[in-house]
Amino acid sequence: MDVKNTMLVKFHELFGNLGSEEFYFTPGRVNLIGEHIDYNGGFVFPCALSFGTYAICRKRKDQNFNLFSINFPNDKTITFQGNNLKKSGVWGDYCKGVIKIFQDNNHNIPFGLDIVFYGNIPNGAGLSSSASLEVLMGTILNETFNLNIPMVDIVKYSQRAENDFIGVSCGIMDQFAVGMGKKDNAILLNCNTLKYEYVPILLKNASIVIMNTNKRRGLADSKYNERRIYCEKALQDLKNSKVNIEYLCDLSMEDFKKVKHFIGENEALLRATHAISENDRVLNGITALKNNDIKTFGKLMNESHISLRDNYEVTGFELDTIVKAAWEEPGIIGSRMTGAGFGGCAVSIVENDFIDSFIKNVGEKYTKKTNLVADFYIANIGDGSRKIGDL
Ligand code: GLA
Repeated sequence: MDVKNTMLVKFHELFGNLGSEEFYFTPGRVNLIGEHIDYNGGFVFPCALSFGTYAICRKRKDQNFNLFSINFPNDKTITFQGNNLKKSGVWGDYCKGVIKIFQDNNHNIPFGLDIVFYGNIPNGAGLSSSASLEVLMGTILNETFNLNIPMVDIVKYSQRAENDFIGVSCGIMDQFAVGMGKKDNAILLNCNTLKYEYVPILLKNASIVIMNTNKRRGLADSKYNERRIYCEKALQDLKNSKVNIEYLCDLSMEDFKKVKHFIGENEALLRATHAISENDRVLNGITALKNNDIKTFGKLMNESHISLRDNYEVTGFELDTIVKAAWEEPGIIGSRMTGAGFGGCAVSIVENDFIDSFIKNVGEKYTKKTNLVADFYIANIGDGSRKIGDL
């Protein structure tokens, strides 16, 4: 589909052909390693994708916001006023949340907007369709009202919108990846300091393959929040025992072994074991990548999955089945679940010569065991959120 043209036709149909429309794009993301540690002060290693969410918009002369999504063609346009932002339980809440946080931070949003959205991130797949929409809305507000907010602050506001308005206590990784992404690079992000470094992903004879289990992430938000609570319990037990840390990931695995007996509940111990070991894996993985040792990076991806399965317990039957099938294929370098888990996607690095047989065999094995049909995408790493131009 010609995205721009389809969106423009819809925009004109809904809001008139008055000129001065603007076009924006914000990607989705895939995380290569460093899962469930952004909220534990750890390092993560995500990259922005070439697919994401598009918007065409125009500033209005009143305070009304009118939002329409081509993904939900049978739904009515979502309409609200900039000075009356209440949750209504549909996708427009992500936009409302961002407008609200901008206002709470004293950014003047004097007029409303007409917007048509279209996204090609598979929904509920854990590739950050919600962060993409939030950062997209932030980018639109910033440009339209000349707010001059640095992208890193748009990223922070978007996370706040998700935490405070939507009620999901997510970390900063997704918003950061979709806001700050860079073509052909992953971002090594220290989630404690927000210092980051772009690391080129030069895989030579291999590619990143995203495997969508098509298992919807049911109850993911409440289970996600529960995992965070247990990490906080572990942290609190360590702090109460005079271990001098601010976040769990301030400890290396070696130091953790000396103090882990201070953690009272077994569930908290398991969660902390994942977080701290995962942070070590990210750092070892970056060293390996910088030494062109992709094999070691792949091995660490596999270990990450095992820890997410056994210590963090966020994988589930579908993700475990697809990752196990991937591990069994020739040409596999590494494979693991990606994102929050509980369904959604896994990510593999596969040698190019084997990609066709990989997709065929993993797909067949997966369907046989789960009765679900998986989708496979070869990931292209793209740039972060941006205005594409006037129309
Ligand atoms: C979700 C959250 C992120 C991060 C991941 C797990 O995608 O939005 O902040 O915690 O899960 O790594």
